[in-house]
Amino acid sequence: MSTQETNWTKSSWQNLSALQQPNWPNEEKLKSSLETISKLPPLVFAGEIRTLKNLLGEAAQGRAFLLQGGDCSEDFDKCTAPGIRETLKVILQMAVVLSYAGGKPVIKVGRIAGQYAKPRSADTEMVNGVELPSYRGDMVNSPEPLAEFRTPDPERMVKGYHLAAATLNILRAFTKGGYAALNRVTAWNNEFVKTSPMGRSYERLAKQIDQALHFMEVIGLDVNNPIIKQADFFTSHEALLLGYEEALTRQDSTTGLWYDCSAHMLWIGDRTRQLDGAHVEFLSGVLNPLGMKVGPNHDLDEIKRIIDKLNPDNEPGRMTLITRFGADKIEKFLPPLLRGLKKEGYNLVWSCDPMHGNTYTAETKHKTRNFNDILHEIQCFFEIHWAEGTIPGGIHFELTGDNVTECMGGGRNIMAQNLQENYCTNCDPRLNAEQSLEIAFQVAEMIRS
Ligand code: PEP
Ligand code: CO
Repeated sequence: MSTQETNWTKSSWQNLSALQQPNWPNEEKLKSSLETISKLPPLVFAGEIRTLKNLLGEAAQGRAFLLQGGDCSEDFDKCTAPGIRETLKVILQMAVVLSYAGGKPVIKVGRIAGQYAKPRSADTEMVNGVELPSYRGDMVNSPEPLAEFRTPDPERMVKGYHLAAATLNILRAFTKGGYAALNRVTAWNNEFVKTSPMGRSYERLAKQIDQALHFMEVIGLDVNNPIIKQADFFTSHEALLLGYEEALTRQDSTTGLWYDCSAHMLWIGDRTRQLDGAHVEFLSGVLNPLGMKVGPNHDLDEIKRIIDKLNPDNEPGRMTLITRFGADKIEKFLPPLLRGLKKEGYNLVWSCDPMHGNTYTAETKHKTRNFNDILHEIQCFFEIHWAEGTIPGGIHFELTGDNVTECMGGGRNIMAQNLQENYCTNCDPRLNAEQSLEIAFQVAEMIRS
């Protein structure tokens, strides 16, 4: 039975329990904020969403590779042209490395233009002896540890909508207006990264692409083709605040089908994917491509039933399973999951999130991740898929184009004592531009083999 023949409506989730929702203090204000958003234009269009789903269908068959990445939690104050450009640049660079050295088309999906809401392990936290609501993302409250800033404010969702629109606008300008043209690959190299061994490897690769393009031009091929001049770039975020998602869920005028037009792809977090919960119910009825995070704490049977509910027609490209076990646990948890789901014949894109299972607190009290653990989890991910005869179809990162010091290790070997030098994240630690590029070169080797 197709999802769209059930009793689903964009509000049917409201009858079920929704975990990880803020305690909004004022019901009236919440209602009026959501009503405002529901009247505003959609952020993305159904046709673009269908394009992404078709591309992900290719990744499910091993004919393309998904690269998804961006901030853990986007910061309202960092919604600036240079900030967005730097993140886009590093994703474009990684994609070029993966497609040129790895030999497969790369589907570029940002955690961007709406990644403003976070699940938290506790509703409140103690700061200097005072109990405060936890920070739940910029669309809910502000990270400053004072009660007035931490109180959830639904008007922040309206602001989040506008900032997502501004972000998408400049992303569309960059990707369609010439900035992302392949004959500009050399220009994407970050000033800071340029001088590093990674930057030099990238420069070499970019020169080869330049030469190939020049050759094409010499023999008379059209290098002004949109394939060369433009990039396809898609947006995604965790579908956590269901009121916001509902307000942006619209019926496609050409097909009459429902799409969540807050982003092209939505994912469901490891903490909110209960079979009978509100998040699974909501996502079952929108036709966007969906991601689902799966960590060590899962039940194989429940995962199967969630997939059956979210993708009853087993449509390729609809479901991406994003595994996030940790370098020390992936060998225990991934093989039985792959075997159990392969047996059922599910069409899935398998993606690796090597970030969320590898978080720990450094001696300096910073939340961090180690570059080697991240790389090790990816390596295991590929090897396990090869051994099981399944397809490693993508990777999912928390990263930024800025020169932050949040994850340890990498080419410049960031140590615990360096973390405070430029630690900017409001939530989880991200790879910086150089670390991201370094990972891309390593993953390209894996894709090629
Ligand atoms: C995230 O991707 O930021 C996140 C919270 O992940 P997970 O649901 O896997 O914990
Ligand atoms: Co995170």
